[in-house]
Amino acid sequence: MDLKQKDLKYIWHPYTHQKNRPPAIPIVKGKKTLLYDEYGNTYIDAISSWWVNIHGHGNKYIAKKLFEQAKKLEQVIFAGFTHEPAIELAEKLLKILPGHFSKIFYSDNGSTATEVAIKMALQYWFNKGDAKRNKILAFRHSYHGDTFGAMSVSERGTFTIAFREKLFEVIFIDTPDDTNFTVIKEEINRYKNEIACFIYEPLLQGAGGMRMYDAKNLNSLVAFLKKEKVLCIADEVLTGFYRTGKFFAGDYLEEKADIICLSKALTGGTMALGVTACTHEIHEAFVSDDKTKTFFHGHSFTANPLACTASLASLKLLQNDGCKEKIEAISTLHEDFLKNLSPFVKQNVIKNLRKTGTICAFEICTPQTDNYLQDIGIHFSNYCLKNGVYLRALGNTVYIMPPYCITKKELKKVYKVVQAFLFSIAKKG
Ligand SMILES: Cc1ncc(COP(=O)(O)O)c(C=O)c1O
Repeated sequence: MDLKQKDLKYIWHPYTHQKNRPPAIPIVKGKKTLLYDEYGNTYIDAISSWWVNIHGHGNKYIAKKLFEQAKKLEQVIFAGFTHEPAIELAEKLLKILPGHFSKIFYSDNGSTATEVAIKMALQYWFNKGDAKRNKILAFRHSYHGDTFGAMSVSERGTFTIAFREKLFEVIFIDTPDDTNFTVIKEEINRYKNEIACFIYEPLLQGAGGMRMYDAKNLNSLVAFLKKEKVLCIADEVLTGFYRTGKFFAGDYLEEKADIICLSKALTGGTMALGVTACTHEIHEAFVSDDKTKTFFHGHSFTANPLACTASLASLKLLQNDGCKEKIEAISTLHEDFLKNLSPFVKQNVIKNLRKTGTICAFEICTPQTDNYLQDIGIHFSNYCLKNGVYLRALGNTVYIMPPYCITKKELKKVYKVVQAFLFSIAKKG
């Protein structure tokens, strides 16, 4: 059996339709933006391997730091013990996070980062003796992960329908725009003094379809909720580390979150790590003679020393000369690309062209209403793959989110392949 056959026999891949599934492509090497298969074919990783990889694959600096750390300490229980990479990373993050955060809580991934945030916010009110404040507010079309708490605060749709009955109740509101603020306020006011927290993906709802919305209106909403004493949880699992053009999406807002969640690009995309940071006030609610007020949450690999080391290395690379310029260059190239797509808009082939920072997106027009299960996304991805580009559409939503080290030539190739696909569907009519 070759690798593909063995994979088909033994492995169940995430978010993958199982009936007659085509074999997964074994990847044997990654170098910068390129992924290499066993036959030496290359694929430009134009979605940063599920949005995590920002410095490219096989980064030598991160690898060197990991190797050095692996020889010193690869893992240690994080209750009763601590280590330098975790402390240094916490200290560094607290200096740059958008808000007045004072404590870092580590976990393993994006879903655990949001689970921790929700539990922290609910227990904050419980510890303060205000258990009536236990409702949670979230946006429609949101995505905060695949564990039960994270699913509960996410859009009720394709991903969660099988678990509908088991998800806890959440108040869902629309993302704010220039017209709907009064309605949103009215909805919130119906639950006055009962809302514990509000969780949101600032400026960009990723898995919900790369939906982008305005910082000004979000700022007003956060300000309103903070006046109502609602704890605001910014889920920056996707938007952190320059994805939206600034270090954090929260840097576009004057109003700061009380809790922030990070993962994905946190380690430069090399290791799994989650961070949930909170303010001094939140942490204080857990400091008590009463031991029942302890935050009883933890994971075996909490603050894994290798993952923390990778994060420190990634932060260093981000702060290097040239990284910010690369990010700005991607943003400008995306803008030109979208302009060049306007003939396809006129022909009703695509719609809703949009961009934020290093991400651009649009929908392919189909007779169906926009949804995740449409085959067009699979045709699109297969077409790109055949042409040496890895792009994974979300239903009929196409987006490009490359590592920051992508060259102009590579990015132009990605655009060319996308355009060629659009030509092919425009021709079919
Ligand atoms: C905004 C946001 N939050 C949470 C998650 C969950 O992260 P993970 O896949 O690491 O569990 C994701 C993943 O796409 C995300 O985009």
